[in-house]
Amino acid sequence: MGERQVEFRNVSFRYQEDMPWVLKDVSFTIGPDEWVAIIGHNGSGKSTIAKLMNGLLFPQEGEILVDGIRVNQETVWDVRKQVGMVFQNPDNQFVGTTVRDDVAFGMENHGMPRELMVKRIEESLSAVGMQEYKIHEPHRLSGGQKQRVAIASILAVSPEFIILDEATAMLDPKGRKEIMQTIHGVQKERDLSLITITHDLHEVTQASRVIVMNQGEVWMQGTPREVFSRKEHVIEIGLDTPFISKLADHLKAEGVSLAREPLNHQELLEELWTLRSTM
Ligand SMILES: Nc1ncnc2c1ncn2[C@@H]1O[C@H](COP(=O)(O)OP(=O)(O)OP(=O)(O)O)[C@@H](O)[C@H]1O
Ligand SMILES: [Mg+2]
Repeated sequence: MGERQVEFRNVSFRYQEDMPWVLKDVSFTIGPDEWVAIIGHNGSGKSTIAKLMNGLLFPQEGEILVDGIRVNQETVWDVRKQVGMVFQNPDNQFVGTTVRDDVAFGMENHGMPRELMVKRIEESLSAVGMQEYKIHEPHRLSGGQKQRVAIASILAVSPEFIILDEATAMLDPKGRKEIMQTIHGVQKERDLSLITITHDLHEVTQASRVIVMNQGEVWMQGTPREVFSRKEHVIEIGLDTPFISKLADHLKAEGVSLAREPLNHQELLEELWTLRSTM
């Protein structure tokens, strides 16, 4: 076993030989305990990256290493134990007739002993606040509850990396916030690495690092502050900037000089208080 990380090494990918490359020479590393947000315009290759990461697709050029192991046909089952993925539409992810069966399914696939399975079902459902729903039918749950169960199913296998590909996109802002709080809590508790693909910029500002994709290439990598302090460029490639960032621009245009780029309400307030006390 190598170091705990996911590494893309000069990865290029296309869906068919006569089609254009969807990913071009993509390289990045995601380390332990990181929360990395991947952003980029529609069709920039984000979901393709997610699928390559857990071996649903394989690259034509370059390689992907999970904990130092190259992802290929032989290693894909081991890789999937370490890399769990939740998609946008929970309805396509259910296989069991009850919530409990559904959470059990992933573990059965990995040949986990029964006793451990029972324990893991309890743990992972309570981690997402769904322990009361064990014998409910998944398709009768609300959108938010379905995503919680989908996340529990992934947690039960105890992966090192969890990818959420627009997993909260269908939820209302409150549901989205709740799920993100849940998953972030679990991430810290279990030392997971989290990879979120999202158009929700507020969520992006909370990540430890951001990878910006543009036309199949890594266009920029950095902390949210580094990325959003280069707003003009971000806007150039068709992306939006966070609300607070826009508000800060308006304030600057009015002659308010802020010392640093605020990313959330709290930071903006702090900036304004600092100004006030120096006036
Ligand atoms: N199964 C497929 N067969 C052929 N082309 C595909 C397939 N899936 C995606 N593509 C193409 O690959 C490119 C990248 O798609 P991908 O889904 O990775 O983008 P994305 O960044 O996730 O976009 P979005 O923000 O809309 O989810 C797009 O041009 C898309 O049309
Ligand atoms: Mg996508």
